[in-house]
Amino acid sequence: MIRKYKIGNPIETDSVIEAIPEILIDQEKAVIPASGEGGTETIIPASGDSNSKAVIPALGDENSGWIVDKHGKKLTFSMSSHACIYGLGEQVRGINKRGWHYVSFCSDDPHHEEGKTSLYGAHNFFVYDSRDCNDNICFGMYVDTPGRVEFDMGYSDPDEISIIFEDFDAYIYLLKSGHPSGTIMDIVRQFRRIIGRSYIAPMWAFGLGQSRWSYMNADEVRGVADSYDKAGIPLDSIYLDIDYMERYKDFTVNDEAFPDFKEFVSEMSGRGIHLVPIIDAGVKIEEGYDVYEEGVKGNHFVKKENGDLFTAAVWPGRVHFPDFLKEDTRRWFGDKYKVLTEAGIDGFWNDMNEPAIFYSEDGLKKVFEKIDGYKGKNLDIDSFFGFQGSVSGLCNSEEDYGSFYHEYKGQRIRHDKVHNLYGYNMTRAAAEAFDKIAPDKQILMFSRASYIGMHRYAGIWTGDNMSWWSHLLLSIQQLPGLNMCGFLYSGSDMGGFGGDVTEDLLIRWLSFAIFTPLLRDHSAMGTRRQELYRFKDTDMFRNLVELRYALIPYLYAEYLWAADNDEMLFKPLAFEYEEDVRAKEVEDELLVGRSIMIAPVYTQNASGRYVYLPEDMKMIRFRGYDDYDEEQMKAGDHYVRAQLGEVLVFIRKGHELPLAMPDMRVRDIDTENIHYIRN
Ligand code: GLC
Repeated sequence: MIRKYKIGNPIETDSVIEAIPEILIDQEKAVIPASGEGGTETIIPASGDSNSKAVIPALGDENSGWIVDKHGKKLTFSMSSHACIYGLGEQVRGINKRGWHYVSFCSDDPHHEEGKTSLYGAHNFFVYDSRDCNDNICFGMYVDTPGRVEFDMGYSDPDEISIIFEDFDAYIYLLKSGHPSGTIMDIVRQFRRIIGRSYIAPMWAFGLGQSRWSYMNADEVRGVADSYDKAGIPLDSIYLDIDYMERYKDFTVNDEAFPDFKEFVSEMSGRGIHLVPIIDAGVKIEEGYDVYEEGVKGNHFVKKENGDLFTAAVWPGRVHFPDFLKEDTRRWFGDKYKVLTEAGIDGFWNDMNEPAIFYSEDGLKKVFEKIDGYKGKNLDIDSFFGFQGSVSGLCNSEEDYGSFYHEYKGQRIRHDKVHNLYGYNMTRAAAEAFDKIAPDKQILMFSRASYIGMHRYAGIWTGDNMSWWSHLLLSIQQLPGLNMCGFLYSGSDMGGFGGDVTEDLLIRWLSFAIFTPLLRDHSAMGTRRQELYRFKDTDMFRNLVELRYALIPYLYAEYLWAADNDEMLFKPLAFEYEEDVRAKEVEDELLVGRSIMIAPVYTQNASGRYVYLPEDMKMIRFRGYDDYDEEQMKAGDHYVRAQLGEVLVFIRKGHELPLAMPDMRVRDIDTENIHYIRN
């Protein structure tokens, strides 16, 4: 059962595609009519301060509910002591989100540390489960609002959830399951049904992708492909980061570095390698550059309040931002991808679309003036930090996000009010165009910024993580939340983007990432080179990537099944073994598809780990797709050995794991001769 409540005047986000009758929350009268499907209205008396508070029942128990606090612009809910909270998509911390506060505001921030509250995505769906506590309820909640909203999950008050709005305008969806078992998944499936089917990536996009910021020219790209081939490590794609462009201008190619690009794309595709270029949100301001000139002429760029174009800076220096929220602009920008699809490109990643802003022209001017005032002064504790902060505060500033406007669905709306829709609509622009400009191709597309709804158009990667063991764990823990929100094609920068990777970290990360749809080794400029063939134990890397290729028939089939049935590819144990209280606390094991569970090693110098089995399973310890040992194991706790290069897979009772014969490219995998490991 789903109930949709309306608070204030919400801005439509196009994230939910199913029509659901609205229940209006009348804030003024301080009561809310809570009508069920039969249409009978019950007036629920406001609790507490009767002028400002009303209650939304938490579905299932009319005594416990959400307090609507109009003046505080928040909804609050009393939690049971052992209740768990799952979801919120791309976020920091563990699978159970209880005990921290999370801010939904797409943020370009490469420091994915525990203390952070926002990453690149805004995914406002979660499930609350207190079925083994006194109040015994389980419900899902989706807060559909495109501006900033904070989810305080027991941070300010350990026993309370508070959802704090900047503007008290939102659609609130409450979802309840009628199933006595499989409750959480029933809620997830209902949610996924109303937001529409997830994007389907082509099968080749399950192959290994190699990326670097940046491969500077065609020869360097050829060299990467040659080295993989020479090492015998399968590879399907090579990513082109910003330096393939001519001075960071979207839809251009630097033809000194990549002479005859079309020919080069076809040469690589002849070898079975897909080139995947990046597209950034900002359009360089430069006379004579067609995208810039058309954008100005066609009124496609966002403007300030006074009607002047908003000027900011990203990689190319000064840019304008297309107003992706405008349908006409989406059509215009989407068509631009044609330059590249016509050259044979069939995969893209959209970046810097929170949008990331290094500085705005206005902001920079103010800082220069301010800094001028510090000249010749004795900078003391306050003035020194003020001086320092004025420069560092230029980047992605709230002031900038509040200083330009969109034309959205016939209305002029300030950016910060619809901030979380920007990357979503950039990606939607591309995906909608693909049907037109490349109708015969299945295009790979993933984005950095996102909102729920974008999952219908593309996948996401989890942005600029670090080569840290803690980020390997984070990437394991992020997957269930992403899947709950419809982002099935996803993965992290394997090996870590920032910082220097070590060989053992890369091996352990790969040992986990061979299960994620997006398997991409990407690293930042200035960091240690991270291509797999550069490390000492080439055999180990080859064995792991071959295992991935052998697993692709299983992974791709389970991925399609998850998309078609509103299911999750990666499930926490708690979603499957609902009666098992231990399963609720397992934060480092995942069910992958219907047949297997994985337990990755994510600590340095470990030769094994503790594994909790919620049922009897058959353990497979892989060293390669054709080199493994098997062991029947009983439900319960085990210490399991897993040396570097060994991958632990647990097959559920009555299930089988199909393994294909791997090859150097996904298209060549022998899917006819499948070998099954059965339990
Ligand atoms: C951003 C992206 C990263 C990319 C870099 C240069 O930081 O997140 O993946 O390599 O920009 O384009």
